[in-house]
Formats: sequence, structure tokens, C-alpha cells
Amino acid sequence: MVKINLDGCKPFVKAADYDKYAAKALEAFDTLVAGNGAGNDFLGWKTLPTDTPESLIADCEAVRDDWKALGANLVVVIGIGGSYLGAKCALEALSHSFLPSKSAPQIVFAGNNLSEEYLAELTDLMELRNVACVVISKSGTTTEPAVAFRVVKQFIEQKYPGEASRRIVAITDAARGALKTLSTQEGYRTFVVPDDVGGRYSVLTPVGLLPIVLAGFDVRAMLKGAADTAAALQSRSLDNPALQYAAMRNLLYTELGKKVEILVSYNPKFTYLGEWWKQLYGESEGKEGKGIYPAAVICTTDLHSMGQFIQEGDRVMFETVVNIENSRRCVVIGEDKENLDQLNYLAGQRVEHCNAMAQLGTKLAHIDGGVPQIGVSIEKIDEYNLGELFYFFEFACGISAYVLGINPFNQPGVEAYKKNMFALLRKPGYEKQTEELLKRI
Ligand code: PA5
Repeated sequence: MVKINLDGCKPFVKAADYDKYAAKALEAFDTLVAGNGAGNDFLGWKTLPTDTPESLIADCEAVRDDWKALGANLVVVIGIGGSYLGAKCALEALSHSFLPSKSAPQIVFAGNNLSEEYLAELTDLMELRNVACVVISKSGTTTEPAVAFRVVKQFIEQKYPGEASRRIVAITDAARGALKTLSTQEGYRTFVVPDDVGGRYSVLTPVGLLPIVLAGFDVRAMLKGAADTAAALQSRSLDNPALQYAAMRNLLYTELGKKVEILVSYNPKFTYLGEWWKQLYGESEGKEGKGIYPAAVICTTDLHSMGQFIQEGDRVMFETVVNIENSRRCVVIGEDKENLDQLNYLAGQRVEHCNAMAQLGTKLAHIDGGVPQIGVSIEKIDEYNLGELFYFFEFACGISAYVLGINPFNQPGVEAYKKNMFALLRKPGYEKQTEELLKRI
């Protein structure tokens, strides 16, 4: 189970203030559990770990086996925001840092930007490989994945005439959107993004599950980790770690003016956990002129870039450190006769011991520098623990946003750039906005 440690906040926080925010978090917890708060038509994610049928996993495995039979050694996963970050996070965390999988295809992501060079280079790669594609868009109308999909679709149709319906799988709404229409027309296999699950809460739907299965990882274990966490987080108690996390971050934000939260990991495998978490919290809470700005660093890497600011810059931040209790690999530092590098004092120690001491030393230094620290611990990086972490952060996000008085499940602000982009691209229907924008530039 995910554990939380608030000791690193104690030097900064009055007990009475914590009690006040814990009471608010308890109220928000009740709202989330009862399902009667703002955005309550988007609570489908709460029961995904227990409601996901075995047949859905079997369908994902059928795609995997079919593409294996086809000899596909490259799967392009197209999607943006919540339609890619969960899968990308899981794959980065679970894959070998350097070696390609011996049994699974290479998985690459596209449709999460509009860079022409990115798509041209993807085409270079596709030319060398046996290609299949998963295209993901809940709305089915998002521009970035739609542009990438048109490129990949045309490539597949040209390279493998008559095989597109076997090589392309779509994950989209059950009934609506251009991608749904196109899939029906072209005969693609489809998976459904449930109506009541928003993008950033969708990692345990086919949006995350299919790419994770294709990469060869165990989604049953991931769902089990999430289910066990969901059960544990039902506890209406001040010991509930999700409630504690929500209470403390709101206290730090509101009472101490800590407007930035930095998610920290000491393992580069969690670089995309930071990206997934940033979207979850940023898009859920950043509304109505409120919200904690979510940032992320990897240590010790970023102690040599952002460390200076965290230690001595404007005191606007607190940290949430995702602590991994056990490394799954062991590297011991050897003895060296000459000791020219003067490292013999570490001979016989595991590298993870150095990492742990760096982590502890940094915690103390940052606390001395005025940066409160929340600790969130998991046992190790595997599917089960990742499932725990996904569910923990989702559930805590719901509580936290309700404490802040925000609907965690909408994202009205995302539309603003789209309208301008459509107007500037002269999309039919945007003529008036085009005229207005052209006057401004
Ligand atoms: O969390 C969200 O809802 C968003 O980030 C969406 O996932 C993102 O905008 C992609 O939307 P869609 O899946 O409709 O293409």
C-alpha cells in the first residue's frame, strides 16, 4: 500500500492548521465517495480496477497475438494528453532503460505534438519496420492525433494494401466523433473509452491497458494494485494517505503560499510519472484563478540544474517525493587499488545506498532551505505498485480539488488555444474569429 510521510512538513506547519485542513479533506472525501460533487458524471474511474472485465484484457491480448502473428515489430500509439501519458508513464517505468524487449514490439508515441520533423522521422522509422498502429482519442476530433493518424494511416495503406483494418486499432467514444465514424467505415477493431472517464483518469481503461499489454506487461497485476488501493482508500479516517496528502498540499498552498508542488523521484524510470501527474493535477485543479502549479524533477539529475533554485530561489514551492523502497537490481561499487578517484570509501556499497543518502541529505537541505517535503512511498517499481500509485494520485486529486472548491473533472481552459488555432488554420466555421485574430497580429 502507498505510504505517506508528512514529517518533512512538520517544521513549517501548525498542528491546528493541519487539523483544519484534515477536516476539510474529510468533507471532500465524503463528497467524492458519495459521488455528489461537481463533475460527478465523470467518476467512472473510481471503479475501473474492480469493474474491468477479463474479456477486455483478453481482447487486448488478442490484438497483441494477432500483431505478433503478423510480424509487427513497431506499434505507433497515437494520442495526446490523457490519451497517451498514462501508457507512456507505465512503459517508461516498466521497460529496460536501454535494451529493447526480446518478445514485444517497439512502442513509439505520436500525435502528442505538431512537429513536422517528429512525423518525418517517424516515417523514417516506419519505413524500416513492420508497422501497426493504435489511435486513441476519446472525442475523436483532437487535431494533433488526427494529423498524425492521417500520416500513419496513409503510410500503412500504401505499404500494406488491404491490411489497414488488421493493422489499425482505434480507441474512442462508443458512438460519437470523427474517429468512431472513420473506424466503422474502415472496419477497424475498436475499444471504447467509457463516457464517464475523463482523459487524465483513463490509464486503467483500454487507453492505457492496450499499449501496456502490447508492450508485454501484466495489466492484471496493475489492476490488482489499483483495486487493493481503492479498497484501502475507502477508509473514512484521518490515517487515509490520500486524505492526508490532499489536506497537507492544500494547507501548504493556502496558508503558506506554496504555489508550486514539485514531484520528485530518484529514479529516471519515473520521468513520465512526473508528466502524467502534472497533467492529472494541473488540468484538474488549475481553474478559476486557483491551483497549485505542478512541476517535476528527477534527482539527483536535476539537483545539478534545478537544485539551486529549489534550495535558494523564491520560496514558493514544496516537494512531494515518490520514494521507491527497494531497487530491483543490484550494483556494488568495487574496490580500486590505486583509488585515484578517491572513491574507495564507498567500496562494497550498493549504488542504491548512495542514492538513498543523496535523497536523505537533499531532504534535510531542502527543509533547511524552507521547502516542506511530503513523502509518498511504494515498495518497488512493478505493475502492481504502479497500479497503486495511479489510483492513489487519482483519488487524492479528487479530494484535493474539492478542498480547493474546484470541479476536478472538466478542463474548460483547454479550448482557448484550439479556437485560435482553428481560426488561424482557417477551419470552416471559424471565419469570424480568423478576421478578429488577423487584426491582432
Ligand atoms: O484529460 C483530458 O481530458 C485531456 O488531456 C484529453 O485526454 C486530451 O485533450 C486528448 O483528448 P482526446 O482523447 O479527446 O483526443
